[in-house]
Amino acid sequence: MVSKKPRIVIIGAGMAGLTAANKLYTATCSNELFELLVVEGGTRIGGRINTSEFCGDRIELGATWIHGIGGSPIHKIAQEINSLESEKPWECMDGILEDPLTIAEGGYELNPSFVESISSLFKNLMDLAQGKVIDEDGEIDARLKQAAAKSAGNLSVGSFLKQGLDAYWRLTKDEKLAVNGIGNWSGKSLEEAIFAMHENTQRTYTSADDLHTLDYNAESEYKMFPGEEITIAKGYLSVIESLASVLPAGLIQLGRKVVKIEWQPETMNTEINNIGLPVKLHFCDGSTMYADHVIVTVSLGVLKQGIRQDSGMFSPPLPSFKTKAISRLGYGVVDKLFLQLSTSIADQEINDCKTKFPFLQMIFHQSDSNLRHPKIPWWIRRTAFLSPIYSNSRVLLSWFAGKEALHLESLNDEEILSGVSTTVSNLLSHNLCNSAGIPQPKFAKVLRTKWGTDPLFLGSYSYVSVGSSCDDLDSLAEPLPKNGNICSDSSSSSLSSSSPLQILFAGEATHRTHYSTTHGAYFSGLREANRLLKHYNCIGV
Ligand SMILES: Cc1cc2nc3c(=O)[nH]c(=O)nc-3n(C[C@H](O)[C@H](O)[C@H](O)COP(=O)(O)OP(=O)(O)OC[C@H]3O[C@@H](n4cnc5c(N)ncnc54)[C@H](O)[C@@H]3O)c2cc1C
Ligand SMILES: *[C@@H]1O[C@H](CO)[C@@H](O)[C@H](O)[C@H]1NC(C)=O
Ligand SMILES: *[C@@H]1O[C@H](CO)[C@@H](O)[C@H](O)[C@H]1NC(C)=O
Ligand SMILES: *[C@@H]1O[C@H](CO)[C@@H](O)[C@H](O)[C@H]1NC(C)=O
Repeated sequence: MVSKKPRIVIIGAGMAGLTAANKLYTATCSNELFELLVVEGGTRIGGRINTSEFCGDRIELGATWIHGIGGSPIHKIAQEINSLESEKPWECMDGILEDPLTIAEGGYELNPSFVESISSLFKNLMDLAQGKVIDEDGEIDARLKQAAAKSAGNLSVGSFLKQGLDAYWRLTKDEKLAVNGIGNWSGKSLEEAIFAMHENTQRTYTSADDLHTLDYNAESEYKMFPGEEITIAKGYLSVIESLASVLPAGLIQLGRKVVKIEWQPETMNTEINNIGLPVKLHFCDGSTMYADHVIVTVSLGVLKQGIRQDSGMFSPPLPSFKTKAISRLGYGVVDKLFLQLSTSIADQEINDCKTKFPFLQMIFHQSDSNLRHPKIPWWIRRTAFLSPIYSNSRVLLSWFAGKEALHLESLNDEEILSGVSTTVSNLLSHNLCNSAGIPQPKFAKVLRTKWGTDPLFLGSYSYVSVGSSCDDLDSLAEPLPKNGNICSDSSSSSLSSSSPLQILFAGEATHRTHYSTTHGAYFSGLREANRLLKHYNCIGV
C-alpha cells in the first residue's frame, strides 16, 4: 500500500481538467509518479468548448473568442498548432469590422453617427467601471466621475450605467443638444434603446441576467489581455484536442458521471475505508473508485446544484466557507442561436438587391409598451444583434442571455423561426428590398444551444454578483481539507491527521481575475496541477 503510486482523479474533461492532466502527465519528474485518470460525465471532451457544424459551416456552440491575444495561453497554443488559419470559412464575425446597420423597431434605419454618440458614452462608462483611463477629450465629464465615486460601495454595474445615462441627459439638456426623434420614437427613447442594446451585449459578456446584480467593484479587478479579440479558424476544439493528444488512450474515461464524492475531513476512518485512500467517488452507474486526490472542475452551476441538501454531491458536505462562496457567486445562462437563411432567398437577387445580410443591430422600444409591436416576442427584445458568422455566410447568429436564453431553450424550432421572422420583417419592413439593399430574409433551419438546462453545465459562466466579491473566487479555489496536514509525505502521518489535498478545485469559476473564460480555466488547471507537483516535491517544467 505504501509503495503504491498516488492516484489522482480529475473530474471533467473541459479546459481546466485537460490542462491539469496535460501538466501532471508531462511534468518530467512525475513520469511514473502518479496514477492519473480523467473522468468525464459527457460523451465527448471539451466541456463548454464544443466546435460543431451547421449547414456546412464550422461554428462554436460554446467558447468562441480569444479575449485579447496578448499573453493569452490559448492564443499561444492555437498558434503553435497552426489553428488560426483555415481554408474553410469559420465564425470569424468579420461583419463587426464593417459599419453595422442599426435599425429601430418599426423599420427606422438610424444614422451611424447618432448611434455612435450613445455607443461611445456606453464604452466610456464601461471603461470607467473597469478602471481604464478615460480620454480627457471623451464624453465623460466630471459629473459622471463624481457619480461613480459617490456610489462606489454596494453598487451594481446596472445602477452605475443608469446614473451615467442620466448624467449624460442632464448634460445634453443643459447644452441644448437634445436630438430629434423619428417616426413614433422620441429622441430620448431612441437614446435609451441604443443604450439598452449595449447593456444587452454586456449581459451576454458577463452572463448576468440583470446588470443590477453584477457587482461594480469586481469589474475593475477583472483582467483582459491586450490586443485583438479573435476566433479560432480551425475551431476551439483543436486547442482541447492538442492538450489531450499527449495523454495515453484510456486515461480519459467518457460517460463517467460522478454523483458523490466521499472525503475525510477528520482523521481517516479506517473502519469505513480499508483501502487506505481518503477519497471515494461514486459514479452514476453505481461503480466506485478510490483516490488520494481529486481535482473537481465541474461548473459553478453543477456545484450550486451539488450543495443543495437533496443532492448531497459531497459527503460530508463542504465546509460553510465553501458553500457560502458557491451560493453567493453569480452564474448565468448565455446561449447562441444559429439560423440558416433559406437558399432561395440567399441565392437569388431580388429586385437587384444584394444578397448579403448585414451586421444588424436591433433597437427595440423600451419603457413605452404601447409602442411595442405586439408580435415581436419578449425573448427577442433583449437581443442586440443578428449577423452572418462571416461575410456572405448563409448562417446567421444571435446571442441570448438570462431569462431570454432559458426561454429560448424551451421553444421548438417553429416558435423560434416564427419569432425571428416577425422581428426581422418588422425591422426591414419598409420594402422588400430596403434602403440598404437587403431582401426580406426567410429562414430554413435553426440550431440553439441549451447550456442552461444541460445537467452537466446548468449555465454558461460565472460572474461576481452584488453581495459577493472576488474573495469568493479565491475561496472556491481553496483545496480541502483546509487544515490538511500539508507536511505529510507518507502514509504514516495520515492516520493521525486528515490526508492533505483530498479535493482540489479548478475551473473557470476558481480564477480571481480571469473567471468566465477559457484561459481562466486553463490557468486554474495549471495551478492545481502545480499544487500537487509541489506537494510531491516536484516543481514541474
Ligand atoms: C455559450 C458560451 C460562450 C462562451 N464564450 C466564451 C468566449 O468567447 N471566450 C472564452 O474565453 N470563454 C467563453 N466561454 C466560457 C468558456 O467556455 C468556459 O469558461 C470554459 O470552457 C470552462 O472550462 P472548465 O474546464 O472550467 O469547465 P467545463 O468546460 O464546464 O468542464 C467541466 C467538465 O466537467 C464535466 N462534468 C460536469 N459534471 C460532472 C460530473 N458530475 N461528473 C463528471 N463530469 C462532470 C462536464 O461535462 C465538463 O466537460 C463561453 C461559454 C459558453 C457556454
Ligand atoms: C456539442 O455538439 C454536438 C454537435 O456537434 C451536439 O450534439 C451536442 O449536443 C453538443 N453539446 C453541448 C453540450 O452543447
Ligand atoms: C409606430 O410606428 C410604426 C412604423 O410606422 C407603426 O407600424 C406602428 O403601428 C406605430 N405604433 C404606434 C403605437 O403608433
Ligand atoms: C446592498 O445590496 C443589497 C443586495 O442587493 C441590498 O439589499 C442593499 O439594500 C444594498 N445596500 C445599500 C446600502 O445600498
